[in-house]
Amino acid sequence: MNQKLSGKVALITGGARGLGRGYALHLANLGADIVIIDRNLKAADVYEFERELLSAETVMAECENLGVRAMGVEIDLCDRAVTETAVGDIIGKLGQIDIAICNAGGGTVIFADEIDAEEEALDINTTGTPANCNEEMQIRVLNNNLMTCMYTCMAVAPYMKRQKSGKIITVSSSAGMDAKVDAKGYHPYGLAKSAIIYYTRSLALELAPHNINVNCIAPCIIRTGRLGDRAHLAKHIPLGREGTIEDCAKVVEFLATDLSDYVTAHTIPIDGGVIGIS
Ligand SMILES: NC(=O)c1ccc[n+]([C@@H]2O[C@H](COP(=O)([O-])OP(=O)(O)OC[C@H]3O[C@@H](n4cnc5c(N)ncnc54)[C@H](O)[C@@H]3O)[C@@H](O)[C@H]2O)c1
Repeated sequence: MNQKLSGKVALITGGARGLGRGYALHLANLGADIVIIDRNLKAADVYEFERELLSAETVMAECENLGVRAMGVEIDLCDRAVTETAVGDIIGKLGQIDIAICNAGGGTVIFADEIDAEEEALDINTTGTPANCNEEMQIRVLNNNLMTCMYTCMAVAPYMKRQKSGKIITVSSSAGMDAKVDAKGYHPYGLAKSAIIYYTRSLALELAPHNINVNCIAPCIIRTGRLGDRAHLAKHIPLGREGTIEDCAKVVEFLATDLSDYVTAHTIPIDGGVIGIS
């Protein structure tokens, strides 16, 4: 069957669980071959919610079961040289990268899989305030969000330029669009995610002459294993419910396909109407 993304290769960073897994499966369903880069290709095992979603041992196996090629690369994207080598290897094996979704990240200082297995599977989020912030924590969150995104873009850009085509999707957050009075402790994450919006615009302007679109998504309250059930927040969301992985994957489909050929340098909130209301 000829599907919309048949013959395309999509790279999804942080695709071993959560939203990234959702993007991988959605694009595989459209016929794209899938490459997952993650610091832990079995990251879904950490949370019961994610484990139960898996229909095969890994996300790569799930994609293959949809009839496409899939490969996984286990590296930490905070290292630019390692990222470039990995992208070179992917090109060597699959010949091209048409779509890159820079999804790795999160407001995490210590990942659940770095904590003693006996302890509860809980990622440790940022603390402190903008006026009093632990430097090591700030740098780790910037590295995991902004630098992983930039290094991925920098690694794929030369190949996309050579192809004279490409779709890059970066991932910000509602936290990067609006500094909330009651979320001071989360500011290292907001800072990283707002820098991604700036980077997206500047990268898009550089790559536009090469027929490469660069856009950003800014999810808000989306149910994944790491963040848990936040249905109680529905009363603060104009559309009256928390978002789903598929809500985000549908926007990714728009940005990854020819539906968005004349859209570049923009950020699309996926927020049920939250951003902009006080
Ligand atoms: N879930 C939400 O409500 C929400 C809201 C706004 C933005 N986001 C953003 O969406 C993205 C995915 O969120 P999620 O909830 O699915 O998170 P998640 O923690 O379930 O998935 C993130 C994945 O990225 C991987 N990863 C993290 N740092 C990495 C690194 N340095 N190198 C390689 N892999 C790395 C992790 O191992 C994990 O598999 C993140 O960038 C997050 O900030 C999520």
